[in-house]
Amino acid sequence: MPGHPALIDSLGLLSERAGDVTGAIYTRLFEAYPDLENLFLMDTDGGVRGSMLSQAFECLMDLAEGPGTMAETVIRSERVNHDTYDVPAGMFEVFFEIIRDVTKNAAGDDWSPEMDAAWTSILRDAARLSRPMTT
Ligand code: HEM
Repeated sequence: MPGHPALIDSLGLLSERAGDVTGAIYTRLFEAYPDLENLFLMDTDGGVRGSMLSQAFECLMDLAEGPGTMAETVIRSERVNHDTYDVPAGMFEVFFEIIRDVTKNAAGDDWSPEMDAAWTSILRDAARLSRPMTT
């Protein structure tokens, strides 16, 4: 799998310009899928939301750096775990897309065609890993 340095660059812009985006990500998620907010009622200090998001970022970075072995293991096993939390199929894809949208927003005019292409490719990989394996 080729590397995708433009995705890493975009995440650099995100952290420089937006700082902690945990609030922005979950606000978008719960606006789009209000029912999901109830799943986090036990997460009173936001710790689960924070570590979930940082795992998602690490997976995206790992896929961008290649070969993405860590991301493959984490996404596949978390997808199985999340079935037991009643997280519907398709939601991992939504979560990764929201991260892309927040990153694009933070990059503003510096969002490049290379970044767009890198995200399209990595989101496709993440979506594939988020679905049950077919034989
Ligand atoms: C919209 C998509 C997602 C939803 C609604 C969701 C929901 C949840 C919920 C409700 C928990 C808490 C479970 C519990 O302890 O009872 C959780 C934990 C966790 N999720 Fe997700 N998840 C999503 C996507 C992801 C993705 C994409 C990843 C990683 C690639 C991930 C990684 C984790 C991890 C590592 C934990 C454990 C965090 C901790 O306890 O410190 N989740 N998730």
